[in-house]
Amino acid sequence: MASTAKHGVEILRDPSLNKSTAFTEAEKQALDIVGLVPDVTETEELQLRRVMMQLSEKNTDLERYIYLVNLLDHNETLFYRTVMSDPARFLPIVYDPTIAEACLKFGHIYRQPRGMYLSITRRGKVKEVLKNWPEKDVRFICVTDGGRILGLGDIGANGAAIPIGKLQLYTACAGVPPQYLLPMYLDAGTNNEQYLHDPLYLGLRRTRPSTEELYAFVDEFVEAVQEVFPKCCIHFEDWTGADAVHLLQRYRDQYCVYNDDVQGTAGITLAGMINATKLKGTKLKDEKYLFLGAGSAGVGLANLLCSALVAQGISLKEAQSRVFMFDINGLLESTRKDLADFQRPYAHQHAPTRDFVEAIESIKPTTIIGVSTVGGAFNQKVIETMSRINERPVVLALSNPTEHAECTPEQAYTWSKGKAIYAAGVQFAPIHYNGQTFLPGQANNFYIFPAIGMAVFATRAKRVTDEMFIEAGQAVADQVPSELLKQGLLYPLQSNILEAEIQTAARVAKLVFDSGLARIARPADMVVFIRQHVYKPEYANEAQGVTKAA
Ligand code: NAI
Repeated sequence: MASTAKHGVEILRDPSLNKSTAFTEAEKQALDIVGLVPDVTETEELQLRRVMMQLSEKNTDLERYIYLVNLLDHNETLFYRTVMSDPARFLPIVYDPTIAEACLKFGHIYRQPRGMYLSITRRGKVKEVLKNWPEKDVRFICVTDGGRILGLGDIGANGAAIPIGKLQLYTACAGVPPQYLLPMYLDAGTNNEQYLHDPLYLGLRRTRPSTEELYAFVDEFVEAVQEVFPKCCIHFEDWTGADAVHLLQRYRDQYCVYNDDVQGTAGITLAGMINATKLKGTKLKDEKYLFLGAGSAGVGLANLLCSALVAQGISLKEAQSRVFMFDINGLLESTRKDLADFQRPYAHQHAPTRDFVEAIESIKPTTIIGVSTVGGAFNQKVIETMSRINERPVVLALSNPTEHAECTPEQAYTWSKGKAIYAAGVQFAPIHYNGQTFLPGQANNFYIFPAIGMAVFATRAKRVTDEMFIEAGQAVADQVPSELLKQGLLYPLQSNILEAEIQTAARVAKLVFDSGLARIARPADMVVFIRQHVYKPEYANEAQGVTKAA
């Protein structure tokens, strides 16, 4: 909390300044808030205890989510203190899977605005709208158009909860200070009939425009950001697959932008693949990969994986020949006429098939990756076929929320008779099977994007590159202790997430300096340098440096 010119009730109404029951007597006097708060001075621990008690009285995670959002509206420090006190418990509440329900009900549970809402009807005036944001030094905008939220499809303005939640994770998981973060919903309408007819829906009541019109709007937004917030990195989140890939291609060489679904998912999945090969005693380039789903997450991962394979010494063509994809219309193969340009490198010469098990039988992949949004798509036959072909089949069921996972860990371990190496996109409890305990890891990009964010923030990086995501994936993989890896855990424990992300951010920051992309001088010790930038959820002494208004 910074010293401020605000005083009196203004302090209590500003969540970044409010300490509620923790103001000292000296602060109450200096700030003119004597009598406006209870006449006590509580410790932060005691405040946290009250929050925990109130949370324990809530019956559902959605109620806990609403409570925490409300806490954030009043006391930012206490909110982050709560979430950072037990990340394994709170990440599933402030983010996946609870956020999915919060999105579906966004217009109904809405309390007050957070972040910005920019409608396509403001075209020509985007810069003026951005200038309304009270913070002038914005370093990250997380932006969605609600086009493909989680595995929920087009939910329009209800997707506004996603950038809000994502940016909270920058702070909670990697310590990026919250005042630099701006959640943004670009409203270009929705094709979701249910919401278009919901009186409490909070977006434009019109269907989506043509791609051309949408991209012209996004162009204006991206250019306006460069002017209004020149130090800002734009994080694209939850656009439809084609928009995600095309918009990334459109801006990545010119501006500081990245797409978390394309690059963050790829980084975290790569981490899991690296650790799976450690368990198998192989190398990434020895494996053969079959994706179920060829959208933004699938193609993004395939591209990053191929870059990592090339780094292991094979040609790009050879790398691509090890990656196969299967989508809603069957196997991607060279005679298919319905493929996008970015899917073509993975459409090999192969007989057409719409049967995933048949594709497994003929391609003989060592790893299957579910990024299809289709819950249960890795059925018993799929897992049994993979287990027949492989000693240790690698099964990554990445779609979320929970009901959309292609299979559960219990199914993977049971159907493979304990042979599968498994991770999901959401958190699952440990599984006991045949006298063994398996620890299913969560391949969620929240291990990656906050660390990338911290590295970009600390180094003031000019660009975000694929190499940064490969390095982040490698750094995450390196942090799983071997005793946990042996139990099948492919990712670091969430309870220690801040430390894991500091180490990851330090490795990425080193790469930023090595690549000449930093805008500041190189520090001597990268971990110390990152730690210096980490936000701590602690109150500042507000009695110092207070300027009372006349
Ligand atoms: P997308 O909409 O761009 O792509 C979905 C793909 O799945 C398309 O290629 C589609 O043809 C295919 N598909 C749909 N139904 C299918 C079926 N019945 N059989 C075979 N293929 C089918 O979506 P995107 O962005 O690629 O995301 C996909 C999933 O990955 C979502 O559920 C999302 O939540 C999840 N995801 C997980 C992340 C993680 O960190 N674990 C991060 C990003 C996305």
